Amino acid sequence: MSSSVVYRSDYKAPDYRIESVNLVFDLDPQTSTVFNTMKVSPLGAQPIELVLDADGLELVSIYENGVQLPQKRYSLTDKSLTVHGIDKPVTLTIVNKFHPLANTLLSGIYISNGNFMSQCESQGFRRITYFPDHPDILTHFHVEIRADKEKYPVLLSNGNLVRRDELENGRHLAVWDDPSLKPCYLFALVAGNFVKREEKIKLANGKDCLLQVWVEPQNKDRTAHTLESIKKAIRWDEQRWGLEYDLERFMLVATDDFNFGAMENKGLNIFNTRYVLASPQIATDLDYFNIESVVGHEYFHNWTGDRVTLRDWFQLTLKEGLTVFRDQEFSRDMLGKAAAIKRIMDVRFLRSRQFPEDAGPMAHPVRPESYREINNFYTTTVYEKGAEIYRMLQTLLGREKFKEGLRLYLERNDGRAATCEDFINAMAQASERDLGQFFRWYGQAGTPRVTVKSFWDPEAHTYTLVASQSTPETPGQTDKKPFLIPLAVGLLDPSGKDIPLQLEDETEPAGTTRVLELRDAENEWTFVNIDAKPIPSLLRDFSAPVILNYPYCRSELAFLARHDSDPFNRWDAMNRLMLEALNDMVDAIETGARPSVDQDLLAAFEQMLTDERLAPAFRAISLTLPDEQLIGERRTLIDPEAIRSAREELRSVIGRRYSSVLLKIAENYQTPGEYSPDAESAGKRALKNLAFSYLLAGGNPKALLALRSQFEQANNLTDQLSALTSIVNSASPAKLDMLVDAARKWNGVPVLINKWLTVQASAIAQPGEVPVLSRVRELMASGAFNIANPNSVYALILAFCNNAPEFHRPDGSGYRFWLEMIQKLCKVNAFIAARIARVMDNWRRYTPERARQMHDALKLADSLPNLPTGVREVLDKALG
Ligand code: PHE
Ligand code: ZN
Repeated sequence: MSSSVVYRSDYKAPDYRIESVNLVFDLDPQTSTVFNTMKVSPLGAQPIELVLDADGLELVSIYENGVQLPQKRYSLTDKSLTVHGIDKPVTLTIVNKFHPLANTLLSGIYISNGNFMSQCESQGFRRITYFPDHPDILTHFHVEIRADKEKYPVLLSNGNLVRRDELENGRHLAVWDDPSLKPCYLFALVAGNFVKREEKIKLANGKDCLLQVWVEPQNKDRTAHTLESIKKAIRWDEQRWGLEYDLERFMLVATDDFNFGAMENKGLNIFNTRYVLASPQIATDLDYFNIESVVGHEYFHNWTGDRVTLRDWFQLTLKEGLTVFRDQEFSRDMLGKAAAIKRIMDVRFLRSRQFPEDAGPMAHPVRPESYREINNFYTTTVYEKGAEIYRMLQTLLGREKFKEGLRLYLERNDGRAATCEDFINAMAQASERDLGQFFRWYGQAGTPRVTVKSFWDPEAHTYTLVASQSTPETPGQTDKKPFLIPLAVGLLDPSGKDIPLQLEDETEPAGTTRVLELRDAENEWTFVNIDAKPIPSLLRDFSAPVILNYPYCRSELAFLARHDSDPFNRWDAMNRLMLEALNDMVDAIETGARPSVDQDLLAAFEQMLTDERLAPAFRAISLTLPDEQLIGERRTLIDPEAIRSAREELRSVIGRRYSSVLLKIAENYQTPGEYSPDAESAGKRALKNLAFSYLLAGGNPKALLALRSQFEQANNLTDQLSALTSIVNSASPAKLDMLVDAARKWNGVPVLINKWLTVQASAIAQPGEVPVLSRVRELMASGAFNIANPNSVYALILAFCNNAPEFHRPDGSGYRFWLEMIQKLCKVNAFIAARIARVMDNWRRYTPERARQMHDALKLADSLPNLPTGVREVLDKALG
């Protein structure tokens, strides 16, 4: 078993170069053929063993310099083809076959709605042809694609189009040449029936660039937003970082069948349709927003990922964390006045998804030391915690030095496969700082706890903050060293204003937010000229991915929620207030008492609800209750039923207590006229729909009527879907008709049908209603669901597994369902199976009877025959 573990420390630099590769594809859905011609040069004097990776390929023939290679010169196994004794530059030609239609893993070349699509990251290229499938083997790709002209009129690959031609038997060909050096995981090929939206633009350097978005014909009118997003991303990268695009064209193709969100193949990004298609009828405000950010993400990879790529997969965060940071900054800049919302959304996600990962059996450093299936390490830790590392550097070094460092890193490593050390070295050089301690963020797992204490000295007029840090053990790491933690702080005077901050060794105040550097187990700082006892605003803008403990009392939190000049902390104070109140309510429910609602919280809630000076988007996000996952995080043992009861009780109390204000908001924040997804309109819709959801939770009959007509008459999906969701989660019997209605309207559009599935899988079942699982099983058997489609699996199965009180029903039905799904998915798509397997990660955190049943289910899964490596890795770690 352990033989399949890959260790970072095992990295060996290649002893050869691939000078170029020429690929000729003869495409056929059943069996395709590749003619692969590689120029190979040994680097040293010794003859080399050239190990070419393979996965499910059929070797037809192999030649060296045009002559058939004798049997004794190579060995063939399931996973590799090794050519022995290459002692001078040679040309190898390999002919092999593969089977696109049978490829349900969606890695390599597969068929989606009748079209050929490719996906090579991380190790898909070996499912296409024999090749050293490692990110540090960079070469020039020259590609010829041959296929039936009628069925596959569009033939695309990376780089520039050099030739198109007719062939016999109704076939045609296209030749693509990529002038850049790239590893094979960035190779892409698309062949099929697509239509395009295109535009020629001028880059900042004056060169022309052709932008194209390719989709299946029925989606022709749903690509304008994507093209606009590409243009914004190009401009932003030019303006913010001085980074320009480097090819004659930039293409993006959308497919319904895709394991992840999107892929940054050089010059030919391939996207999941859910991050491409947008129209008022098929995309919500949030979809519009996410499309822009994912388009940005993949485009930004052109520098951070493609031009500078990875030495090995352990360095994944070097492209992913960095590119997430870049896309987060992009989205934030695009939001203008509403910028704070983006940071809040990102931190909310980090806390409810990455923090639990970092506290569970799959906890791993941002740069892992080992893996069995690299596909399991495209995690929130590598991506989102990784992004926080780059953000902390920007905070510590300042924007200018950070930018210099990034540019230095890109210059030095352009056309190379780099490591996290290369990045940090460039940053250290640009900033003239020693970043040795900072580098621990890459290597130590676990979320640090930062505990702050404060002391005000009324006689000396000083205020001292003492911060200490500690990081809990994680699998394989018991002894943690202190991190370098940027702690952005401000101090509020009793009227709520920021106090100018002067540390004791300074001659004058400098600003109202200071970034303190916590380096040791404990550090302290003293501010002078503090005339009245201040309230500290700590970790402003969430300056580090840590859990902050400070003994705020509830009135202080309410004060911060009302006055803090840092919008993130303003939101966070409200959020903490809600969490504490909810926690008390869960306590009460678990002991059989009636939960009572905290009055401080209600007062703060009302205050913010009616504060017209605050942007609607900010009010909406601040007045949304923390999700169940987050409430569960701070419990010793998780009882999902109690958590839901508490949250629903609070929602209904708010809905009843503030019904008149909420009704007024629901009326005042309508967005009449033509739909626009801009931040301001989206914010209004968010606040209006939040008001409706509270009203419905409180059983308000007027709101129910209004929402029914909103569902029928709205000119946009945000309002329709929100109405449907609120009513499905209410006691109203209207939900049944509405679901039927929605199915009829949305039929035939996969992105919509998936939303329809999710609304039902995530439903809050009312007393007396059948368990959600019964409905999920019905849906699975219907034409709306397709187990071979990852979006469909996520929309129905994963959504159900995240519906905690339903999934964790005490009868264990959810766990039996999970086991069945693992069994089924293992046969179709092992990557998706591993993802679903992870919903049991934190089984130890649940109430004893649930934990026991979850453990049993994990054991049963682990004993299944022929488990894919990736699934086994997840199960073994969960079982510990
Ligand atoms: N590299 C992709 C990204 O931009 C993610 C991905 C990984 C896509 C593996 C497909 C396969 O995040
Ligand atoms: Zn990425």
